[in-house]
Amino acid sequence: MRKRAKRRMLLLAAGIVLLAALGSAAEQETPLLPALVNRTTLHSRYDTERGISENQISALLRAGFTMPTGGGQRSLDFFVVTNRETMHAMQGGNPYSQALNTATCVIVIAADNGRAYYGELQEMDAGLAAGAVLAEAAELGLTTCVLSIAPQQERMTSVRAALQMPGSYTPVLMIAVGYPAEDALSSASVDGWNEGQVHYNVYQGK
Ligand SMILES: Cc1cc2nc3c(=O)[nH]c(=O)nc-3n(C[C@H](O)[C@H](O)[C@H](O)COP(=O)(O)O)c2cc1C
Repeated sequence: MRKRAKRRMLLLAAGIVLLAALGSAAEQETPLLPALVNRTTLHSRYDTERGISENQISALLRAGFTMPTGGGQRSLDFFVVTNRETMHAMQGGNPYSQALNTATCVIVIAADNGRAYYGELQEMDAGLAAGAVLAEAAELGLTTCVLSIAPQQERMTSVRAALQMPGSYTPVLMIAVGYPAEDALSSASVDGWNEGQVHYNVYQGK
């Protein structure tokens, strides 16, 4: 009888430990991908001495192509620009384009309207692709800066001309990429979590 009671006690204790473990596992937050947390934006002063390899550029492009597109239209093209003169030509109409003065490489994401099933979704496609490029760049230890092109006509015109794009293309945005110069100031943390901007099922106020 004593033995049975002891075994019962042991089983009960084991059950409590298991339940506690399950409970704490359920409450545990899933950690964000380190690449997303470590992403930085650099507006100016990239390290012009430090190059980016073809493999790195290829990884950035592959990341862009992983993203879904509206109706699977896959109508985005990626232009890789490494020529400084071309970068300067792409600054037309954008007073906030200092990144192009020193970036090692710029990836322009353009939508081919001729290949679109849902033209109105192409800019969203470009935004999603850009997000993947930013994450991959961070994973590779590179810093980046997104620069908008569309819908500003002047910016679109200068980028189209600089890259000799066919008329059916809309350059949507570009991403400056490189390593930061030693004394450059890039954003250190991108944890923008704000509970007031989260609503479960319905609007819950601020
Ligand atoms: C859609 C979009 C357009 C942007 N356009 C420009 C731009 O034209 N020039 C620029 O220097 N930065 C531009 N940025 C970069 C933002 O200024 C930058 O992401 C912001 O300062 C926050 O950066 P962080 O959260 O990485 O620190 C743009 C960013 C986004 C998402």
